[in-house]
Order: sequence, then C-alpha cells, then structure tokens
Amino acid sequence: MKSIILKDFGSVDNLVLAELQIPVLQEAEVLIRTKAISINPIDIKTRAGRGAATAFQNTQPIILGWDVSGIVETSKSDLFKAGDAVFGMVNFPGQGKAYAEYVVAPANHLALKPNNISHESAAACSLAALTAWQILKSYGKIKKGDRVLIHAAAGGVGHYAVQMAKYLGAYVIGTSSTAKKEFVLSLGADEHIDYQKQALEVATKDIDFVLDSLGGESIDHSLNVMKQGATIVSIPSGLNEKVTEKAAARGMQGFATKAYSSGTDMQEIADLLEKGFVKSHIAQTFKLEEMREAHLSLETGKTQGKIVLTP
Ligand SMILES: NC(=O)c1ccc[n+]([C@@H]2O[C@H](COP(=O)([O-])OP(=O)(O)OC[C@H]3O[C@@H](n4cnc5c(N)ncnc54)[C@H](OP(=O)(O)O)[C@@H]3O)[C@@H](O)[C@H]2O)c1
Repeated sequence: MKSIILKDFGSVDNLVLAELQIPVLQEAEVLIRTKAISINPIDIKTRAGRGAATAFQNTQPIILGWDVSGIVETSKSDLFKAGDAVFGMVNFPGQGKAYAEYVVAPANHLALKPNNISHESAAACSLAALTAWQILKSYGKIKKGDRVLIHAAAGGVGHYAVQMAKYLGAYVIGTSSTAKKEFVLSLGADEHIDYQKQALEVATKDIDFVLDSLGGESIDHSLNVMKQGATIVSIPSGLNEKVTEKAAARGMQGFATKAYSSGTDMQEIADLLEKGFVKSHIAQTFKLEEMREAHLSLETGKTQGKIVLTP
C-alpha cells in the first residue's frame, strides 16, 4: 500500500512516499480502506519532534496521522462489518498511522459515517470536532443563553466549536481576522471580534465559557472578560500549562486538556453531521502524495476550516 512515512523528525522534506505491507489487524480492530484523511496542527508539531513525538520513539517507519474516513475491508469486531463506511480519530495521542491507503483502528474509536456526508467531510470532522465536542460537553456544561467565547473561530477546532456551541443553545462570540469575519458569522456566531483591530477587553465582557486555541497572553485577556466562576479551557500544549493557576487566582476555573479517541463521542458527532447541525468547511484537498504541501499550508496558521487528503 501507499503510505507517507516520516524519515526522521524535522522538516516537511522528511515526509516521503513509501510502499508498505498492508497492516495486520488484532482482535477488536478493523482494517479501513482509506477514502480521506485530515491533518491537524498536532501533525506539524509531531513531525518536528514535539507534540505526540514520544509515542513514536523506537518506531520505524514513523507514520503520522489520526483522522480517517473509509470503508471497512476486514473486521475483527462485532461493532462493524466489511463494507461499512466509518470515520474517526484513531489511537490519539498514540500511533494513529492514518497517512496510508489502509489503516488499522480499534473499532471503538470509530462511528458509522452518515450516508449524506462525504468521506472528506467526515475525515475532517474527527480530531478537531472531537476536541470541540468533548470540551463543550464535559467542561462547558453549556446552558441555553450562556455567553461562549471561541478563539480562532475560523480554524479547525474553532469552526466546529462555534456550530456546536450554537447547537447547545449558547450565545456565541468568535474571534478571527477581518478576512474571515463573514465565515465566522456564517457558522452561526452571534458576534465577531476582529483580534487585529479590537482589544478583547473593549470588545466583550461577562463571558461564561472560553475555548482558547491560542494560549499564552490569550489566557490573560480571556480571564479579563470572564464572569466570576466562569471556565476557560485552553488547548495548545506548550502554551497552556499555567491556565489552571491563572484562573484560580481570579476566582475562575481553568483547564488544559487533550482530546481522546472515543467511538461514543464520534457517534454523537455523526448524528450532528447527519442532521446538518454541524458541517465541515474544507479549505483545501490534496492527494496523499502531496503531504509535504499540505503540511506547508497548515503550518501557515491561516487555514479556514480543515485540510483533507485523498489516496
Ligand atoms: N489539546 C488538544 O487535544 C488539541 C486538539 C486540537 C487542537 N489543539 C491545538 O489547538 C490549536 C488550534 O488548532 P486548530 O486545528 O484549530 O488550528 P488551525 O486550524 O491551524 O487554526 C487556524 C486558524 O487560527 C486563526 N488564528 C490564528 N491566530 C489567531 C488569533 N490571534 N486570534 C484568532 N484567530 C487566530 C486563523 O484565523 P486568521 O487567519 O483569521 O488569523 C486560522 O483560521 C493548535 O495549537 C492545536 O495544536 C489541541
């Protein structure tokens, strides 16, 4: 099978096409014939030797990637049978090995892909969507009318988070540059803040919940506009470690968290996709062989929605 392997941690030039054996599946796993995969900033960080790189120590060849949508070729699980269309985030933050024509996945990390959703949209709606959904459900406990601030609302996580927070009944405020204002509002955001033109403290106040994809100073600015007792969840590792103590010092709650593979949560996301409450916005589609170009595009930090690749 075709696969993109990482010769060594470092630059995009280390991502190369290779011909490998189709992987062998164990009990409770399925073998997926890939129709689409998606990439995330964690792929970039891991490629460079940070992020989830420790999960690949002493592994050769290194195959990155966690988001996949495809057709079950063989199953050793009662959950899915050959021919089922499935999607999900595989083995995160371990070895997902999604940059390949065939991917082995624990069946309980997957959900059935809705028939009215393309493989591209489904693959996109895995890690980024799970992150948003798990955070909004478990930390957000969003109630109707809650004022929810989503930073980087035009990005992979943010564009799902806006739609999901609206679905949960929140009043949603999203940040982006001017160029992406209409996109953020089209996702259902009630208000837009242009981070290049407006100080957060001037633009808003009385926030109940913040999903922070930026870290660093964004945490301090966010705390300035939150209500007493409100909650902030910050997700960029390396930039979010102080969120708990900073929030506590202000009488608020702060969490640094990571997404985790869950077929149950994926099934909830599948339902949101099928019913049209959530849509994937795909900024660019590449061929698997163009992984280098896909990484270069994502690492600009300017992606609107998601980047997808097909075999
Ligand atoms: N802990 C976890 O489990 C977890 C899971 C997923 C992601 N993450 C992390 O969360 C971060 C975001 O991930 P992502 O997939 O959403 O990234 P992404 O898709 O690459 O985000 C790109 C977006 O960020 C926006 N942006 C950049 N700077 C901004 C600023 N100062 N204010 C507002 N928006 C800004 C850009 O909009 P403009 O062009 O308008 O600036 C662009 O649309 C990454 O660091 C990622 O590693 C963590």
